[in-house]
This record gives sequence, structure tokens and C-alpha cells, in this order.
Amino acid sequence: MSDYSIPFNRPITVGREYENIAEAVRGGVLSAGGPFSARCERLLEAMVGSPRAILTHTCTDALEMAVLLAGIGPGDEVIMPSFTFVSAATAVVLRGGVPVFVDINPVSLNLDPAAVEGAITDATKAIITVHYASVGTGIDRLVTLCQRHGLILIEDAAHAVGATFEGQPLGSFGQMATLSFHETKNVISGEGGALLINDPELIARAEVISDKGTDRARFERGETQKYVWQDVGSSFRASELTSAFLLAQLEEQDAIVARRRELWARYHIALESHEIRGGLLRPNISQSCGTNGHIYYVLLSDEDKRRTLIDGLKAQGIHAVFHYVPLHDSPAGRRYSRTAGSMAHTVSIASRILRLPMHLGLTNVAVDRVVTALGETLGKPSDG
Ligand SMILES: Cc1ncc(COP(=O)(O)O)c(C=O)c1O
Repeated sequence: MSDYSIPFNRPITVGREYENIAEAVRGGVLSAGGPFSARCERLLEAMVGSPRAILTHTCTDALEMAVLLAGIGPGDEVIMPSFTFVSAATAVVLRGGVPVFVDINPVSLNLDPAAVEGAITDATKAIITVHYASVGTGIDRLVTLCQRHGLILIEDAAHAVGATFEGQPLGSFGQMATLSFHETKNVISGEGGALLINDPELIARAEVISDKGTDRARFERGETQKYVWQDVGSSFRASELTSAFLLAQLEEQDAIVARRRELWARYHIALESHEIRGGLLRPNISQSCGTNGHIYYVLLSDEDKRRTLIDGLKAQGIHAVFHYVPLHDSPAGRRYSRTAGSMAHTVSIASRILRLPMHLGLTNVAVDRVVTALGETLGKPSDG
């Protein structure tokens, strides 16, 4: 149990999770490739408009698959933000590639397309972009850049299930996109992920790579007499137990997004006066973005102010957290990657961002308590 009366995250069930798991057990298939996995995959394909979704154990797995499918090899460069989770970078390094980190835009917190353009070299093969907090700003410019330079675009849409940019689902812009169903995300299965393959030419190889490098998918469809080792691969596919839980969540996705958006809007309205008084900055999201309420964050003036707030909220039983520690400045980042251009926004935002509790178990009253506690801590004269 959490020590906090208002935890940062609390995973909860939303529908038929237990019934589905019981049905899977009764059905006698618990490994990968059963009926629940297939239903989740078809649902994701329909939601995003993707020709093929493959459920994986995690988004990290999906990123490793995407990098394999992109054909990244020794010396190939992949441009990505440093302000992201480690999985994109390590997926590239596992193949002998080089993550090239570029700065983010300080408003959208997504890759800065101009910085990306400046980082392209003859060795660049792909771009992995993140839709931070489900904001799609910049994706249109990255699509154009990739087309112009012949690069593969991978959307790390770990935050972005159910979000859109100019009405188009995030996850449908790149040749591939990755999703996360980790317990901290909107739609959850404990650990969980998916690879969306939008380029039909990659689908056959994706099926093989996902299933230990074998053509078992073709065998199961009756297209071949036996399945054999065809290519590199790993055991990337999610089990039926995970998929049974996930299906119940996916079926409630609209309700999940609607409630998270309500909570998001409640924070946003209540914190306006603090922004006007100069205590913090709220997210500034373009009208083009249909976000999913995944994260509510504020930006403070500096890291000391953030520490004061984290401690002040903790004293009132509220768990607020920072986010990514820049990858370019980590021990492995310094060893395996390089930066292109200034990283000033990455360093600054990473030190000033504070994420507030956001989950389906959160009540309106709890949001109001967080806002009041935040206001009290911000107002303390000793905080500067
Ligand atoms: C942007 C991003 N990508 C990938 C991941 C990894 O997701 P998973 O835990 O499903 O591997 C995370 C984790 O939070 C993330 O924030």
C-alpha cells in the first residue's frame, strides 16, 4: 500500500477484467496468440487505422521490434529526444546503432523539428519521436522531414493511446508506432505494449520477429505445413492472461479518456490563478491536439522550487513526481550516444517539471486538495 493518501498513480479495473481472465483460463489457451490477443489487436487496428497491431510484453519490446524492423545496424544513427524514457535509446544501442539526441520544444515538450533537421547526416536511418503527455505537436513536420530525407519514422506513442493530431490518431503517422499498457498508463495490463505496423511491407517480417524468428503465424493460418526458423527474433508476444485483462480496458477506452480529461481540466482551471501570479506554468497545448488526459504537469521556476513542492505535497500525503532524467547526460548515454546542437530546453524542462497525481481512482475532491496544498506550499515565503 502507498504511504500517500493521494498516490501519483493507482491502477484500477474498469470493466470485465476478472471475467475475461476466467474465460481465458476456461478456454484452455494462456500463451500468446489466443482469442483475447487477437481481439485486442483487431480493436487497436480499428482505433488507430493501422493495418497490423501485434501485442507485446511492453512498449520497450515494441521499440526493440521497431528498431529491428527498421534495419538499424552498427553505426546507423537514430534521432530521438533525450527527454524520454530509456527504452528507445537502448533498443538502438542493442543493434549497434547510435542514438543522436536533439532538443525539445519548450512548449510542446516534443522533439523540435528544426533541431531534428539540423541533426540529419548520411548515417541517419530513422527518427523515434515521443508524443509527450499525448501531445502530437510537430508530428506533421517530422512526417515531411522523413519523406524528404528517406528516413523511417517511429512514433513512441507510449503516452498517446486514444489521442489525435488534427483529427488523425497518434500512432498512425509513422511507418511504425509503439504503445504502452504499463500500470501507469491510461489503458493498462500491468506490463503490456503493442507495435503498430503502418507500412504493409513490414508486416510479414514483424510477425516472424515477434515469434522467435519463426513463421509460426503462417503455420497457424494454414499457409505452411510446419513452422521453422526464418530470421532473427525474440519472444515478444503478450500472453493470453495479459490480453484478457487488456481487452476489458481497451473496451472502456473512451470512458477512461473522458474521465482523465475531466480531471485534467479541473487541475487546469484551478491552477490558472497560480500561473497568473507567476508561481508556475501550466501546459500550453495547441488546438490541433486531441489529448487523452494522460499527464497533468506544471513547470516551476527552478529545481529548488520543485523540491520544495514535492516535499510540501508529501507532507500532506500527496505524491507528485518529476519525470525523465535527460538520457544524454546519463552514464550509458555518454558512452553510447551523441548529441546534436544545444540541449538547453531538455536540461531546463527536466529540472522544472512536476507531474501531479492522475489516475482513474482520483476524485474531484482529491484534485481540489492537491491544488490547495500546492497553493499553500507555493505561497510559503521561505520558498522564495
Ligand atoms: C515515452 C515512453 N516510451 C516507452 C516507455 C516504456 O514503456 P514500457 O514500460 O511499457 O516498456 C515509457 C515508460 O513509461 C515511456 O514513457
